[in-house]
Amino acid sequence: MLIRLDRLLSQAGECSRSEAARLIRGGEVLVDGAPARSGAEKIDPENSVVTLRGRTVRFSNRVCLMMNKPAGVLTATEDRDQKTVLDLLKGPHARMRLFPVGRLDKDTEGLLLLTDDGELAHRVISPKSGVEKVYYAETDGALAREDAIAFAAGLELRDGTRCLPAKLELLETGERSAVLVTVREGKYHQVRRMLASRGAPVTKLKRLSVGGLRLDDSIAPGEYRELSEDEISSIFL
Ligand code: URA
Repeated sequence: MLIRLDRLLSQAGECSRSEAARLIRGGEVLVDGAPARSGAEKIDPENSVVTLRGRTVRFSNRVCLMMNKPAGVLTATEDRDQKTVLDLLKGPHARMRLFPVGRLDKDTEGLLLLTDDGELAHRVISPKSGVEKVYYAETDGALAREDAIAFAAGLELRDGTRCLPAKLELLETGERSAVLVTVREGKYHQVRRMLASRGAPVTKLKRLSVGGLRLDDSIAPGEYRELSEDEISSIFL
């Protein structure tokens, strides 16, 4: 697939498309060793080497980040008053047009994907894909085997919304509980509402995995790293 040179440079996080034009005019961008003439020049990313100021530009067709989202940050691309997950991006990633894949509530932590690939985002989110998401939750209020049975049957939330069958695993029970919840859909505040409907309001919520992809424990809250294509594929395994 051919891609415009200015788009390629901006997707790689090297510069904006308008800066690309300036860099190209200044002879700072080479394509296969020859100075590029225009941002509109079509490049084959598979077979061409593009250098900017002597450095090879690394580009792939898409970028997907795994972020360990901290609590207290909005899953949004911008907000007038509050910090968003995009505000946590640094260097080239801050200049790529990345957006979050689905949404974690402000107070939810854990695995959040960010990408520039709309099709990938759609595949991950679409209920048709049936991608399982696993959450660790702590609750006020006891949970027991009958709650797990109700989850498996498909819960009806307090407002009448019906949920698809889901899994509830009890890790610790008592006055407070620690559980794992596996869902295949992403309704608004779903896990919180599911647990509240069983009399166990959530006090902590962390997403551990999306499909076959687990949160990398070495990523500190607020940090992120790029995923390899194999890791991206593992989401759908
Ligand atoms: N379910 C919730 O209630 N909140 C989230 O952030 C994700 C799933």
